[in-house]
Amino acid sequence: MFEHAQLTAWIDEKVTLCQPDKVVICDGTTEEYNKMWGLLMAAGVATKLNEEKRPNSYLVRSDPADVARVESRTFICADKQEEAGPTNNWTHPDEMRKTLTGLFEGCMRGRTMYVIPFSMGPVGSPIAHIGIEITDSPYVVTNMHLMTRVGQAVLDELGTDGEFVPCIHSVGVPLIEGTSDVPWPCNPENLYIAHFPTTREIWSFGSGYGGNALLGKKCFALRIASAMARDEGWLAEHMLILKMTNPEGASHYVAGAFPSACGKTNLAMLVPTIPGWTVETVGDDICWMKFGDDGRLYAINPEAGFFGVAPGTSMNSNPNAMLSLEKNCIFTNVALTDDGDVWWEEMTKTPPSHLVDWKGNDWTLDSPEPAAHPNSRFTVSAAQCPVIANEWEDLKGVPISAILFGGRRATVVPLVNEASSWTQGTFFGSIVSSEKTAAAAGTIGELRRDPMAMLPFCGYNMGDYWNHWINIGGQEGVNLPKIYYVNWFRKNNSGEFMWPGFGENSRVLKWIFERCEGTADANVTPIGNLPTLDSLDLEGLDVSAEDIAELLRVEVEGWLAEVPMIEDYFKEFGDRLPKTLSEELASLKSNLLQGS
Ligand code: GTP
Ligand code: SPV
Ligand code: MN
Repeated sequence: MFEHAQLTAWIDEKVTLCQPDKVVICDGTTEEYNKMWGLLMAAGVATKLNEEKRPNSYLVRSDPADVARVESRTFICADKQEEAGPTNNWTHPDEMRKTLTGLFEGCMRGRTMYVIPFSMGPVGSPIAHIGIEITDSPYVVTNMHLMTRVGQAVLDELGTDGEFVPCIHSVGVPLIEGTSDVPWPCNPENLYIAHFPTTREIWSFGSGYGGNALLGKKCFALRIASAMARDEGWLAEHMLILKMTNPEGASHYVAGAFPSACGKTNLAMLVPTIPGWTVETVGDDICWMKFGDDGRLYAINPEAGFFGVAPGTSMNSNPNAMLSLEKNCIFTNVALTDDGDVWWEEMTKTPPSHLVDWKGNDWTLDSPEPAAHPNSRFTVSAAQCPVIANEWEDLKGVPISAILFGGRRATVVPLVNEASSWTQGTFFGSIVSSEKTAAAAGTIGELRRDPMAMLPFCGYNMGDYWNHWINIGGQEGVNLPKIYYVNWFRKNNSGEFMWPGFGENSRVLKWIFERCEGTADANVTPIGNLPTLDSLDLEGLDVSAEDIAELLRVEVEGWLAEVPMIEDYFKEFGDRLPKTLSEELASLKSNLLQGS
């Protein structure tokens, strides 16, 4: 079937196991893309949007039981439980393989098996890696077309013996003779998203949605890649990448880790409110970084598209996302307007008076439920973003000057805080906590630790992952990015956001940029370096002086209350916790007590 014996053998084995009616090798062409939409429309799961309003775009409604990543069914199948660590679900690889082999047996009967050769990263980049996804979902094929690089160029790059990550996916609903298909087949009772970091394999069963099914994304580019990165001395992170340019034309590249639905896409495409500055996008979700010869970390966006949160996206909040979405898009679980276009909460100030909601029901202004699912998403090629940076596909990547960590914190955590060293920055990353969002199944709003925004995405023991971060920074001859802890989500006593966020975040980015250039001042405080009032550009900003003071205040009491919680959290990692992180915590505590 292929020139590549190992690939042929793997596919043969999976064909025998899954027993599809037919096997199609995907070529990534427009013809193939259109063919998939023909199938999806015939199945009744996709609607073509009004060609005049939204050319070449589709709306898909998933099963209401399959709308987000399911962390409780996500497994890291390392040989020993300690290798997966306290933050991951673990099952022994042999046991998981047995369970999955049972489930996959005959699971594609009556269906077509699609074999998708894809590259994570520009084909041929020394930072990129190749995967092959087997799937029985034409919806997955369409999304992979936009989200990754699919087709012959990938097979050419792979040659006869190149390395690839085998990824197998099934919606888990065989079509036994005589049964008819449902629009969105899925099998939530038998859900498994299983990763084998030792053999670098992915098996996903039962869901067709987002990160559960587009295996190049969280499964490969984060969980498997994080384990590869540990072994090979690089970093695979849940980070956006942006390029910021000052009025004089100097640029810095910044990477930023925020938990799911906490603002990466928005920051990556931000329109600065400060005159003369520009921000361009390199990536909005995942970042792979390797050291260049000059000792700097060079980053690529392993993805080729955006799978972005729809609700909240508007010409106000994120015009560049809206402009990216004018054509050639996939919308999943948003609402349909009467004129055949899409709508979601906050897209416009006033909602249309009538919609068809994400479940396919009539929706009016007095409907109690949102019209779009809170985790409804758009899929679009990154090339369509009006501010995509020219160098976004540079094979060598872009040199990163600063790394941001952040989360949704209503209290305590200030607007921005600079680490004085890589280890303190790693400590900042390790203590990030955030209120849960709709991106994963579970309770929304609950505060949880989400270190480096990698809690659901780290493919091995989080303690070892922190060690890897420390080791990366401890090498001879490296020229490391500065690290910042930011928080756009502080609230006042009335529960309103104190910081306007979105485009106004450019003020914080400007300070960071100027810190990288060595031209902005900071106050050294017990928690880190905070901007002086003069160094933060507040011109034209509509926020009261009291609120600014509050956003930049070191809340000694609040931080002191955090310390024992962090101590307890760190204890969960036992002897896998890097000593440097306990030392950072101890010095934070003593700095707070001494007030210096
Ligand atoms: P994933 O794709 O799940 O990884 O999410 P993401 O981190 O890319 O999040 P995204 O940028 O899509 O933002 C998610 C939600 O946060 C949207 O509803 C935004 O409106 C909101 N949001 C983003 N940036 C800000 C901000 O600066 N301030 C406030 N208050 N909300 C924001
Ligand atoms: C996230 O949840 O962080 C996402 C969406 O980016 S998904 O692809 O479903 O993981
Ligand atoms: Mn994400």
